[in-house]
Amino acid sequence: MSQPISFLTQSLEKTTLTAVSASPNNSYNARSLSIPSLKPTKTLKPFSTGDVKILLLENVNQTAINIFEKQGYQIEFHKTSLPEDELIEKIKDVHAIGIRSKTKLTKNVLKHAKNLVVIGCFCIGTNQVDLEYAADQGVAVFNSPFSNSRSVAEMTIAEIITLSRQMGDRSIELHQGIWNKVSAKCWEIRGKTLGIIGYGHIGSQLSVLAEAFGMNVLYYDVLMIMALGTAKQVSTLEELLNKSDFVSLHVPETPDTKLMFGTPQFAAMKDGSYLINNSRGSVVEIPALIDALKLGKLAGAAIDVYPQEPAKNGPFFNNELNSWTSELQSLKNIILTPHIGGSTEEAQSAIGIEVGSALTSYINEGTSTGAVNFPEVALRGLDLDQDNAVRVLYIHQNVPGVLKTVNNILSDHNIEKQFSDSRGDVAYLMADISGVTSEDIKSLYEELNATQYKIAVRLLY
Ligand SMILES: NC(=O)c1ccc[n+]([C@@H]2O[C@H](COP(=O)([O-])OP(=O)(O)OC[C@H]3O[C@@H](n4cnc5c(N)ncnc54)[C@H](O)[C@@H]3O)[C@@H](O)[C@H]2O)c1
Repeated sequence: MSQPISFLTQSLEKTTLTAVSASPNNSYNARSLSIPSLKPTKTLKPFSTGDVKILLLENVNQTAINIFEKQGYQIEFHKTSLPEDELIEKIKDVHAIGIRSKTKLTKNVLKHAKNLVVIGCFCIGTNQVDLEYAADQGVAVFNSPFSNSRSVAEMTIAEIITLSRQMGDRSIELHQGIWNKVSAKCWEIRGKTLGIIGYGHIGSQLSVLAEAFGMNVLYYDVLMIMALGTAKQVSTLEELLNKSDFVSLHVPETPDTKLMFGTPQFAAMKDGSYLINNSRGSVVEIPALIDALKLGKLAGAAIDVYPQEPAKNGPFFNNELNSWTSELQSLKNIILTPHIGGSTEEAQSAIGIEVGSALTSYINEGTSTGAVNFPEVALRGLDLDQDNAVRVLYIHQNVPGVLKTVNNILSDHNIEKQFSDSRGDVAYLMADISGVTSEDIKSLYEELNATQYKIAVRLLY
């Protein structure tokens, strides 16, 4: 799918990657660590930047456009997604495409993308893209899983206070003209215990915010994770549930977390405690939550995510969607929000920077760290004083003997450094070679391109 392209050396500013989230755990956004060089390095460019064509759909954030403009890429921008036939026509000659959740990049669409090198999903999810087919064609896909962590953590804090003070109910009553000034069972959150399940990007941010409000923080995680502040990790979920006034779920959707919160977990919670689920709709058994609220075991709950969610805005949150909807809606002190935990202007702008930087870094330098469908490979930059150096990017089928063939082709030159990794059927080799003349570049490209198991070849210099 990726085609030979003409190459030029250009001296433009190197893209700097922005770390947009922080967490003490080992899933920390590794992309921010992918260019570790401290001294200035040679700026690589894939080809004349004016020739790099990028199609941006669905009103991708301005922060991303700024990054691509700075690189001199040719940008075609659309506020909406495109009908499939138009998308097929436009994707034929672009090198990169940026989408959000509405554009479906199926095999049928991608098979027309003859020049495509990379796809950027300016959102969290990537199931709108046929990831496997893209990888088989040598197309890396990037997303932004952690840019909205802070937004979710802040909303959770707001919910803890709102539940504790029954503000949701008071607001609904006053909208209906009912003045109901009460203080019974309304509490300050200072001195109360928050139990966080899943101490990753969001859970750890929440931990810091909660302590600033004077809360005590416990957390439970399948990994041993260093505490922030004075939070304490507990070794069992039961201990956390027994001791917490507020329990907030921040686990990913996995087979282990599916319905991990049901009747036994509600029974283990303190009487009059609160549950918050801003993680995934598959994690909590909602009928069990309804029972716990009806029995008065829980004093309230906040739910942002549901087993079935409408595909678009409108009057779709009803019993047809989830059979228990009206029962849930009828309960007291329950905050229901339409999956807006991460929906802020700041998160959108951080997503633009994160995905925009990842795309630029992949196009210009071949760095695939953070790709969701592709082997993750990165090399430190080439030294400024290294003349006649070329970076070889070779994507190939993951079969025995390929590296022998490739290194044979490269062996007339000095291989300064190289790194290779595989993921499933696809492997990716990156090598910096020196002592390469401009005539060599053409023949190197032709030789590599003619190898049996090649998927795509690019040379950067
Ligand atoms: N409501 C929203 O709009 C919104 C926005 C962003 C993310 N999310 C969701 O929030 C959740 C957390 O996101 P994150 O970015 O913090 O993820 P993360 O990967 O950074 O952290 C998840 C943590 O959960 C832990 N974990 C995994 N399985 C566990 C288990 N069975 N028990 C206890 N801990 C477990 C992991 O070890 C990790 O530390 C995800 O489900 C994500 O999809 C929701």
